[in-house]
Amino acid sequence: MFQFIIIFFLFSQTGTKTVPLPPTTKRTKNAKDGNGRNKHIVGYLERSPYVQNVTKTALSFLWETPTYEKCVIKLTSTSNQVEKTITSGPAKSHEVRFTVLSPQTKYKYRLESIQGVWTGQVETAPGNDAPFSFLVFGDNRNGHQAHRDVIKSMTVQPASFFINTGDLTKDGAEKTNYIRFLRIEAPLMVRIPLYPVVGNHENAAVGSGLTNFRKYFALPRNGPDPEFTYSFTWGNSRFIFLDTNKPLVGSAQAKWFREQLRSTAFDNKIRHIFVFVHQSPYTSGPHGPHQGLHEAGMVDDMRRFGVDMIFAAHDHIYERGRVDGLTYIVTGGGGAPTYFIRTHKPYSIIAEATYHYCRLFIDGDTMEFSAHRTDGSLIDFYSVKKTRGPQRPVFEVLSERRKPVPAVHSKDMASSGGAGGSDKSQVPAISPQDHPPEGDPRKRKSPFPYVFGTIGTLVLISAFLYSRLRRR
Ligand SMILES: [Fe+2]
Repeated sequence: MFQFIIIFFLFSQTGTKTVPLPPTTKRTKNAKDGNGRNKHIVGYLERSPYVQNVTKTALSFLWETPTYEKCVIKLTSTSNQVEKTITSGPAKSHEVRFTVLSPQTKYKYRLESIQGVWTGQVETAPGNDAPFSFLVFGDNRNGHQAHRDVIKSMTVQPASFFINTGDLTKDGAEKTNYIRFLRIEAPLMVRIPLYPVVGNHENAAVGSGLTNFRKYFALPRNGPDPEFTYSFTWGNSRFIFLDTNKPLVGSAQAKWFREQLRSTAFDNKIRHIFVFVHQSPYTSGPHGPHQGLHEAGMVDDMRRFGVDMIFAAHDHIYERGRVDGLTYIVTGGGGAPTYFIRTHKPYSIIAEATYHYCRLFIDGDTMEFSAHRTDGSLIDFYSVKKTRGPQRPVFEVLSERRKPVPAVHSKDMASSGGAGGSDKSQVPAISPQDHPPEGDPRKRKSPFPYVFGTIGTLVLISAFLYSRLRRR
C-alpha cells in the first residue's frame, strides 16, 4: 500500500502540465447567432480583431471566426463622427482595409459577428513630423509566461506602434503557435499595430510557415519579398525590415535596401532611419554576428547613409553597442529562455541577460531611447541629436548610460576584427560586481531535482523493506 502511495505521488509530480490558451477579448453578453438563437453561441473568436499596417489614411483589421460567417466592422471617427462600414465573408479568416481616412485621427471600431461584438479604438499615423513613440522587443518564441509579463509591462507605455524582432513562434508552420502568440499580444494589438520581423523559428521559407506569416499579418508589400521585407514612414522616420534568414550577398534584398537608404537620405522630410533584422551584425551573445549582412555590404550601407539604430534578436539578451558610429541593439528578451553572456565584445556598451523591452521617443532631430525590465526598472538609456553633416549625418550623443563591462576573452577580441573602431577606447574599466546575470534565475532556483531525489530514495528504501518482509 505504501508503495502505491509513493508511486502515485511520483507520477503526479512528473506529469506534463498543459497550459490553456488565454481567452480572447471582450464581447457583449446578449450576442445571438444568425437565427437569433442563443444556444449555438460559442462566444469566442479564434483571433479577436487586431489592427495592422496603419498609415496616414488607411489601416487594416484581421480576425478569425470559428465558423464560416459574414461579419460587419464599423469605424467611427471620434472627432467628426464620420462612419465607414465594411462587410466581410463568408469566411473564417477575415482581413479588411479601411482607406480614405484622416491623418492622426482616433477611430472607434465595432465588429459584429454571430459570436458577439468586439469594440476598441485605434489611431491613424500623423501627417507631419509630430513627436511619437514606439516599442521594440523580440524572441518571445514559446516562453509564454515571460512573454505575457513583457507584454503586460509594455502596455503601460504610450506608443503609436510596436515591433517584434522575430522568433514569434517556436515553429511558424504550426497554426496554433500563431493563435497563442496573437492572444498573448492582444492587449497591445487591439489598439496599436505590430510590425514583425521574420525569425528563423518562423520557418517561413516554404510551406505553411510562409503562408502563415502572410495570413496572420497584413504588412506593407513594397519590398522584393512582400511582407517579409518592407518599409514604412511614420512622422519624420523611416522604418526598414529585412529578412536575414536568406542569403544576402548579391541579393535583390540587398539592392532594395541600398535604394531605400539612398532615397531616404535625399528626402528632407526624413530625419531618422531605423533598421530591423532578426540576426544582428554585432552581438556578445552565443550566436555571434551575422556575417551575411557584412559580406553583402549592408552594414557599410547603414553607416554610409546614417542609420540611427539597427535592432535584432536571435540572442536572448539585451545589448547596446556602437561600432564606428553605427548603434546596434540586441533585444531578444521577449520570453524565450535568456542566454548566458560569457564574453563581451569590445564594442559592447551595456549588456544584460534579462526579459525586457525597448522604448523610443522621437521629437524632431532628437531621439530618446530606454530599455526596461518587466518590472519597469531601467536597464539602459541613450539620447542623441542627429544633424545633416557635409557628407553624412552627424550623431551628437546627449546622454547615455555606460556601465562597465566584464573582460573580453582573447578569442573574441581576435574574432571581432577591427569592428571595435573608435568606440573601443570608450569602454570603461572592468568591474566584477557589474557582471550581468547569467541565465534565467527562476530556472537556477528550481526545487524539482531535490524533490525528485528525495522521492526516489524513499521508493528504493520501501522496495528494499518490502522484499525483506516477503522473505520472512
Ligand atoms: Fe532566432
